[in-house]
Amino acid sequence: MKGEIIKISVISMACMLAVILFASCESPSVGRWTSYSGDRDVERRVDSVLALMTLEEKIGQMTQFSANWSITGPVMSDDFKPYLEKGLVGSIFNATSVEGVRKMQEVAVEKTRLGIPILFGQDVIHGYKTIFPIPLAEACSWDLEMMRRTAEIAAIEAASDGINWTFAPMVDIARDARWGRVMEGAGEDPYLGSRIAEARVIGFQGGADGKALGELHTLLATGKHLAAYGAAESGRDYNTAELSEHTLRNVYLPPYEAAAKAGVGTFMASFNETNGVPATADRWLMTDILRGEWGFTGFVVSDYTGINELVPHGIAEDEKHAAELAVNAGIDMDMTGATFIKYLKKSVEEGKVSEETIDNATRRILEMKFLLGLFDDPYRYLDEERAKQNTMTPEFMKTARKAVAASVVLLKNDNRLLPITKESGKTVALIGPLMNDSINLNGEWAGLGDRKKSVPILEGISEKYKESAVKLLYAEGSSITETTPGKIAEAVAAARRADVVIAAMGEDFNWSGEAAVRTDIRLPEPQRELLKALKATGKPIVLVILSGRPLDLSWEDENMDAILQAWFPGTQTGHGVADVIAGDYNPSARLVMSFPRNVGQIPIYYNQKNTGRPVDLSNEATDYKSNYLDNSITPLYPFGYGLSYTTFSISSVSADKSSIRTTGDKMVVTANVQNTGDIEGELVIQLYVRDLVGSVTRPVKELKGFQKIALNAGENKQVSFELRSEDLAFYGIDGKKRTEPGNFMLWVAQSSADNSHKISFSADTPSNKSQQVE
Ligand code: NOJ
Repeated sequence: MKGEIIKISVISMACMLAVILFASCESPSVGRWTSYSGDRDVERRVDSVLALMTLEEKIGQMTQFSANWSITGPVMSDDFKPYLEKGLVGSIFNATSVEGVRKMQEVAVEKTRLGIPILFGQDVIHGYKTIFPIPLAEACSWDLEMMRRTAEIAAIEAASDGINWTFAPMVDIARDARWGRVMEGAGEDPYLGSRIAEARVIGFQGGADGKALGELHTLLATGKHLAAYGAAESGRDYNTAELSEHTLRNVYLPPYEAAAKAGVGTFMASFNETNGVPATADRWLMTDILRGEWGFTGFVVSDYTGINELVPHGIAEDEKHAAELAVNAGIDMDMTGATFIKYLKKSVEEGKVSEETIDNATRRILEMKFLLGLFDDPYRYLDEERAKQNTMTPEFMKTARKAVAASVVLLKNDNRLLPITKESGKTVALIGPLMNDSINLNGEWAGLGDRKKSVPILEGISEKYKESAVKLLYAEGSSITETTPGKIAEAVAAARRADVVIAAMGEDFNWSGEAAVRTDIRLPEPQRELLKALKATGKPIVLVILSGRPLDLSWEDENMDAILQAWFPGTQTGHGVADVIAGDYNPSARLVMSFPRNVGQIPIYYNQKNTGRPVDLSNEATDYKSNYLDNSITPLYPFGYGLSYTTFSISSVSADKSSIRTTGDKMVVTANVQNTGDIEGELVIQLYVRDLVGSVTRPVKELKGFQKIALNAGENKQVSFELRSEDLAFYGIDGKKRTEPGNFMLWVAQSSADNSHKISFSADTPSNKSQQVE
């Protein structure tokens, strides 16, 4: 079989020989192609294949289709079968299972003229079969190594199932909780978002700079969605992102750039427009910035029918025009829209698209196939036995359980209601629609995770306390959207018999994710009604929230005794949540998105501008200030906030110098941190900076560093942060990045709202002029 399979390898080897003898296979138009690998041998192999291809076959490589699949496995969609059989498909996604992938690969490799293998993609977002907490939740762990590892496990499972390429990580900054896709990202902060982008790219691709691509546990990753998809006006999905170049560069672009610098192999264009140009047609973004400024050398895929959508956007006359705009902007592959394969040949013949553009896009795609080893053996990822061995292993389950516990944010804990230890002997009433649910736990974009396999909270808690003095009662009380007086009465009866109530409430899983926007982000009315009835019993209540976004928890904050924000935690939900509730894991997560007091405060984020009329928080109601008549301007829970079962203090914040040069310099900031409670715990210690006066206005605070440290009860540690001149740089009005001289404030803090420990410093140049760093 192998002899037949690697037809193209043989052809390309013959061609390589010809290259060496006659230099005849080398394309005359290598032009602006800079290879991703920088490997001359790979470049020669790519060119040797390109030299054999017709224009149509090249455009075929730039074409991606989605396979349909049913519960018995994938089936080929009639839409793309004819293209596949003619060798006019470069990539397929949603072809799940080894069997499904093999079936399609066989057609490409054995039945087409050149036998070029297909690149198989999939949305492997927060796990493949072992589902980890939704990305927003995991980000709250601030544990980069853990996030690297969960991406790596996802890659191992998916690559063992024949997948080569994931459409992740999603690195869109999100400041609007109405937008359902906040669940897929890392929250509101560009610095933290950038570090998480790097960790996830490295996790998926097996290491930095894509050097490990081709090892059997790796996936090609995608930085998405370029750019500013998270800035959709009013949180409405696919909506226009109306923002200045200043905000685009200083807030939204950094995580994409970080992904590029970590070696992400591909990018996906976003659906939205910025500056009046949809990203899919935006050459400034896709070529000038992405390739020119950031040096990206992988390939760019459109989003799903993103090219066709240039027509309703009103920037393309028809789909042919749309294809031309997209490819000339820098889109290398058309996801599902079939515009390239239908129209680009004609566009080349008419001189509207150059053949060199087509060649370069094709080279970029072929190179990835070479790096993944698909030309050497198109079936190398397909091994049912390996898939079985590498799926939901005990080690993966252990990592997933730890990830759940590390992602749960303790928002409130009056009178130290939590933890409820095994020794407490309490009777606990377990209530709520999400207490005995497994279907919602994986959240959206949960790959091939079997929802029925996810551990309900009820099961996790029952297992936890099974041989203890704690007694458990259970009543559902309501579904997510409905209740009855009878159901409420049952729950109230259980609460009355208990010492404490734990209520698991929240959203349906498909209320977040793509095209899932809410304008009311409170708990649904029936659940609030149930909570009110439980509150009336006078029993202390622990509320566990499962949601794909920050909710408006103002009423709950006032009325509940303890609140755990558990998000959608995935396969190991019940066990991880029970670990936190029983105190076997001391909560260590910190919010990465501000929680609003109500939907009217949105967008709300900590790194806002001061304005010319800033509010004095000790007297917010002052007239003619940037405030509200009916609410505070502060969030209910700020970015960086989260409680622990112990307490911490920070003292002795100092720096090794009071002045830093604007280039090539660094300062070391130190602080003393103490665990002031009586149990061991972990603290995310955060470094914030404010540039007091700039040539453009600067945010009131910006995160510039963080560390997660473990401290025993009573233990002291000195932590130090290195702050480099470049960390203070920002994009000025001229679009150039620089650190400006002047005065700065710096905080070492437990959250973005913690102002207790600050020092000042300055940045100077000998000539006292700002210097460009990039
Ligand atoms: C559309 C989504 O926007 C994108 O994130 C996803 O990767 C593709 N569909 C493929 O499913």
